[in-house]
Amino acid sequence: MSILVETWQLTKIYPLGHNVITALEDVSLTINDGEIVIIMGPSGSGKSTLLNIIGGIDRPTSGTVYYYLPKLYLSRALPPLQAQLILKKEGLMTFEEEREGSSSVPPILWMTHDRGTLEFSHLGDSPRKIVNLSKLSQREMLEFRKHYLGYVFQFYSLIPTLTARENVELVLELVGISGKAARVQAERYLRLVGLTEGMNHYPSQLSGGEQQRVAIARALAKNPLLLLLDEPTGQLDESKSIEIGELLVSLKKRLGATMVIVTHDPQLKEFGDRIIHFDSGKIIEQEIL
Ligand SMILES: Nc1ncnc2c1ncn2[C@@H]1O[C@H](COP(=O)(O)OP(=O)(O)OP(=O)(O)O)[C@@H](O)[C@H]1O
Ligand SMILES: [Mg+2]
Repeated sequence: MSILVETWQLTKIYPLGHNVITALEDVSLTINDGEIVIIMGPSGSGKSTLLNIIGGIDRPTSGTVYYYLPKLYLSRALPPLQAQLILKKEGLMTFEEEREGSSSVPPILWMTHDRGTLEFSHLGDSPRKIVNLSKLSQREMLEFRKHYLGYVFQFYSLIPTLTARENVELVLELVGISGKAARVQAERYLRLVGLTEGMNHYPSQLSGGEQQRVAIARALAKNPLLLLLDEPTGQLDESKSIEIGELLVSLKKRLGATMVIVTHDPQLKEFGDRIIHFDSGKIIEQEIL
């Protein structure tokens, strides 16, 4: 299994009057491709701070986050013709493959910035490109997040004036997929998360569990490298939490998605490949299930 993300001695300190709060202290961990990592710990232990730093929403006081990107990574969300054009431009698709309409599209990159790139690395089977998040400018970080990361939050954060389908279509438009292709892709992901009836409903017409499914479809539809979930079942009852856990595992299997889940919810524990126990800004134990 290849490493996708590595954090190196992350520390986050917030000033508080004459004092400081150490939200994270020397946190070093790795996340592998296709793994569900669950981060558990008491309130205030730094879980969200860690997730936000891994997700490029926040920056550490010191320490680094590295992403080991497949050198060439093609969003599965791209329509096949557009994908073929990129492959041809990169010299990765031969004439024969093109003629046969090869379906074995290798994962390829569509990242445009270079400043965060340190070097090429060989991890696992494919060459990887190392991106150091601390080296990215604010604009580059936004691009990175837009193309590579998906987020799911406790309160769903759907746009209330858009239907479920339109909520998903909107993020696809942000990564350059629009019109019919976006509609087809949005519907596919909504079906994948089990929402067939409510595609044209507004968030207020959906239950909490259904809204969270839409949020998961929205985050996954652009095929991010990593899905970050902060208390995804925080608003749901026990049975709905288990349904969401089962859904995440099925998405991992079907799409090969990699996920980091921050949660208080003991129900979710059994759905992880690895549990990282956190307290006072530090890793205190790792359990591999
Ligand atoms: N913007 C901020 N300014 C000052 N202190 C902060 C800030 N954000 C977080 N903290 C502090 O950092 C510590 C870790 O917070 P964090 O939100 O990461 O905890 P958590 O484990 O996610 O908690 P919860 O389970 O309640 O969501 C807490 O003591 C919190 O008060
Ligand atoms: Mg939190």
